[in-house]
Amino acid sequence: MIPLCVPEIRGNEWKYIRECLDTNWVSSAGAFVDRFENEFARYLNVKKAVVTMNGTSALELALRTLNIGVGDEVIVSSMTFISPVNTVKYVGAEPVFVDVCRDTWVMDADKVEELITPRTKAILPVHIYGHPVDMDKIMDIANRYNLYVIEDATESLAAEYKEKKVGSIGHIGCFSFNGNKLITTGAGGMLVTDDERFGERAKYLSTQTKTVLSNGGFYHEEIGYNFRMPNLLAAMGCAQLENIDEYSSIKRNNANLYNKFLSGIKGITLPVERESVKNIYWLYSILVEEDYPISRDDLILKLKENGIQSRPFFLPVHKMPPYKECKTGDMSVTDDIVKRGINLPSSVGLNENEIWQVCDVIKDI
Ligand SMILES: Cc1ncc(COP(=O)(O)O)c(C=O)c1O
Repeated sequence: MIPLCVPEIRGNEWKYIRECLDTNWVSSAGAFVDRFENEFARYLNVKKAVVTMNGTSALELALRTLNIGVGDEVIVSSMTFISPVNTVKYVGAEPVFVDVCRDTWVMDADKVEELITPRTKAILPVHIYGHPVDMDKIMDIANRYNLYVIEDATESLAAEYKEKKVGSIGHIGCFSFNGNKLITTGAGGMLVTDDERFGERAKYLSTQTKTVLSNGGFYHEEIGYNFRMPNLLAAMGCAQLENIDEYSSIKRNNANLYNKFLSGIKGITLPVERESVKNIYWLYSILVEEDYPISRDDLILKLKENGIQSRPFFLPVHKMPPYKECKTGDMSVTDDIVKRGINLPSSVGLNENEIWQVCDVIKDI
């Protein structure tokens, strides 16, 4: 089986995790936690990074840090993994769904402004599958309407917009280290920000708002959360981060191979990389158009018969039962491309022969 996207573990993971076990520093205190935060902040070129249990808790923490809650609206794409939308609900706010672009499949910045109301508090662009959202337009709207921007960069670590890493452009950026992400800690996440006040507040909220008194007792001024990542996982994160440049260039090379092998097939639309951005192709994806001989779902079956795992694009969240009544803009592009999109195998460990095997099935049809 050629899997969709599996981890790449080939560095100091064993060594660093063993160090935690040998020294008994397995829980959420320990040197690797600080080291992972500091090295990740340096990589993203931001002032502060805060580790979390997963990407979902990073997103919830971002909303809580910015005091977004009951009565507020957050503009978010519908074509995304459901996690960012759920976190809007966790804090009691309402998601408002915006369409995506036909070429990049990410939030259409030109359709955001029309959805703003006096209740809008934030925009939550999701950089899906590795392509950045048009952040200049998003930041311009946010500045004009005094809104926060929380980037969901969970799928686009190492992608760039105008030479800035995604996740470092908005007020807060969020990452996931789930097993299928560019780097993994098994489960884990990170919140990043260039605003020290937000960084300190996020750390405080994520560690049960704990203040240690002079006699060693704990004092809690307000309700906090336990979103901490244990040292064991941070150790793995440090090891994974050491290889991030290599992994990201492999992803881009693999995408070039896919583009080469799949170009010119009638009915197959290839992914794009808009000018001034760096697409990281976290999941290399294509659209199966109407003039391809079989449907998208039949292609998924055909690939499966050939031992190849693929996945259809995310179903739109605004069509899911908990979100059916939420406000949306015109969703015509989302509604169309979710029927056509397919993610192809994209592991860092994928070799040229395997990429050829996948493309051969698509070509043969
Ligand atoms: C776009 C998006 N946002 C958020 C998440 C949540 O991350 P996690 O699974 O680490 O909670 C994911 C998936 O993993 C995702 O794909």
